[in-house]
Amino acid sequence: MIDQATIDRILEAAEITDVVSEFVTLKKRGVNQLGNCPFHNEKTPSFTVSPAKGIFKCFGCGKGGNSVNFIMEHESLSYPEALKWLAKKYHIEVSEEEETEEQKQLKDERESMMIVSSFAQKYFTRYLWEENEGRTVGLSYLRERGIRDEIIKKFELGFCPDAKNAFTQAAQKQGYKIEFLEKTGLTIKRDDWIVDRFAARVMFPIHNIAGRVIAFGGRTLKNDKKIAKYLNSPESEIYHKSRVLYGIYQAKREITRQDRCYLVEGYTDVLSFHQTGIENVVASSGTALTTDQIRIIKRFSNNITIIYDGDEAGIKASLRGIDLVLEEGVNVKVLLLPQGEDPDSFSRSMSSSQLLEYIQQNETDFIRFKTKLLLESTENDPVSKARLINDIVRSISVVPDAITRSVYIKECSNLMDVQEDILYTEVRKIKQKESEEIRKKAFREQNNPRTQSQVPTQKTPAINLCEIEEREILRILIKYFHEEIFETEDEEGNVEPLSVGSYVLDELENDGLVSDNQLINDFIDLFRQNEENPNFKPAPFFINHSNIKISRLASDLVAEKYTESKRWKKGGAFVEAENEILDLIVPKIVQEYKLRKVKNMLRELETQIQEAGKQNNMELVMDIQSQHINLKKVANHLSVQLGNRTII
Ligand code: CTP
Ligand code: MN
Repeated sequence: MIDQATIDRILEAAEITDVVSEFVTLKKRGVNQLGNCPFHNEKTPSFTVSPAKGIFKCFGCGKGGNSVNFIMEHESLSYPEALKWLAKKYHIEVSEEEETEEQKQLKDERESMMIVSSFAQKYFTRYLWEENEGRTVGLSYLRERGIRDEIIKKFELGFCPDAKNAFTQAAQKQGYKIEFLEKTGLTIKRDDWIVDRFAARVMFPIHNIAGRVIAFGGRTLKNDKKIAKYLNSPESEIYHKSRVLYGIYQAKREITRQDRCYLVEGYTDVLSFHQTGIENVVASSGTALTTDQIRIIKRFSNNITIIYDGDEAGIKASLRGIDLVLEEGVNVKVLLLPQGEDPDSFSRSMSSSQLLEYIQQNETDFIRFKTKLLLESTENDPVSKARLINDIVRSISVVPDAITRSVYIKECSNLMDVQEDILYTEVRKIKQKESEEIRKKAFREQNNPRTQSQVPTQKTPAINLCEIEEREILRILIKYFHEEIFETEDEEGNVEPLSVGSYVLDELENDGLVSDNQLINDFIDLFRQNEENPNFKPAPFFINHSNIKISRLASDLVAEKYTESKRWKKGGAFVEAENEILDLIVPKIVQEYKLRKVKNMLRELETQIQEAGKQNNMELVMDIQSQHINLKKVANHLSVQLGNRTII
């Protein structure tokens, strides 16, 4: 934990244009600075930095935030890591708050494990290049495989001596404790018997996203079927196989720039792609692809091409991967290599443009992939066709986005020659069955006293139906919190000015309006806490807030362009700057929010009526119906008010 005073000092020093300029060439454009977005590939600059607001915003890809967010995004760091990065740049000493003994121990342990891993990597690399055995055995093996020196260096490959425990001894001699050598799995110890896990293997260090070594894969040079070709570090406090992608550190920038990630199977596949000049590639290396791995890729791009070996196992793995990727809302393509090839062998003979061309011509979306595969293996009989359609529909139904689903349905309809609406019905059936199951499960849990308090009853996250209106409210509050728009009379008849902040907060409070989105409520709470504080400056307060969700949303809101004016222009008479017509705009926004809420409640009641109707519970139907009628009156009243407003 970094203490708040230090955080404040860092935020103060980290001037946004200064920070961004380290990575992006900026040109002055009016009050802002403009450059090419480092987060996506663009030819015309749409990446804007506002020194006055202390934020960046790309109007191309939507990324935005303050200087800490920029470093987090650009260097793939966590919030505290980004703060430390900035502290280093501005020579600010970071004093960390006291941690609990347990936290400290765990952190120390992880740190020690990383330090020993880093030592091991340097040891193995030096051994590969400088020691006789390393050169004649390890290096010559890699060179014979056609791996160029520059790639061997880039991936920090190495060699572990062919001896019982030469590495462990060297490490201990340097003062590294056996405890951490053991915990990282570099050393295997039983009583007084100590050996190097990776003896006589070529070493592939595995880096985390920030570039630190957390594990190793070691390849044997023996052609013995009884010896595992690769040995990997065991799971540990710093290495969770299912959450690591081999090559992510070396690939991350290029994945963002190309907005695509190639996913291959093995260490050597990654190396070969880099050697060809294609750097946006990672490997799931040995484990079946996991959701956590997909989420890592998703931080950098929403497009994945799976390139697996053209053998039975590769096909199986691709099929398994597809649904997993689709479920995460990521677009997936598949490229099957010719039988017997893996990406390593296949890319060997090609230039980068040849390889890219091959990929682009042969990668197919998952529907074509499945169709081709299954039509090949079965005769074209109606039963297997039906089975195939069913299989594809199942995959389509896991795609979270409705528009993407409809694109896939269209394609499936064309390819398989079935009507679209039949496919829609099938997808709907699957989804219905799913939500039925979720409901049943929730119901069971609700009625089961044992699980009642622990299990959230709703599995799917609630969708916020008022998002647009709530964002608008927050935007107005951030921008005009202290601005005075109305006058009010108190009980004694004294006239007092009323600020935008007080007006909006009162309105929300009086009608008991609460958002379904906790983040929005957190904003409102913070506004409430500062209602009487004349020194409260909402924009910097929220933009620099230590809660990353708050600072992100605040930056987004501040960067949003003022769109309201168009509507006012249509109304006729006048177009003013927003701040000159606050007395009109602010109430209107609040009313619109209320109307939206009421409409949503109406819709909710309508489904309740239907449900009650299905159960023949007429009493309940009537009861809800009368609520509906009352609410409908409120809705009408609100829209008349809004109508009057717009006529002015
Ligand atoms: N793998 C593993 N353990 C094994 C075999 C494979 O962890 N016993 C993992 C490695 O990460 C390997 C990947 O699975 O890179 C793919 O396996 P494979 O295709 O057999 O290896 P290649 O990467 O092709 O290695 P090489 O070219 O050296 O044969
Ligand atoms: Mn291979």
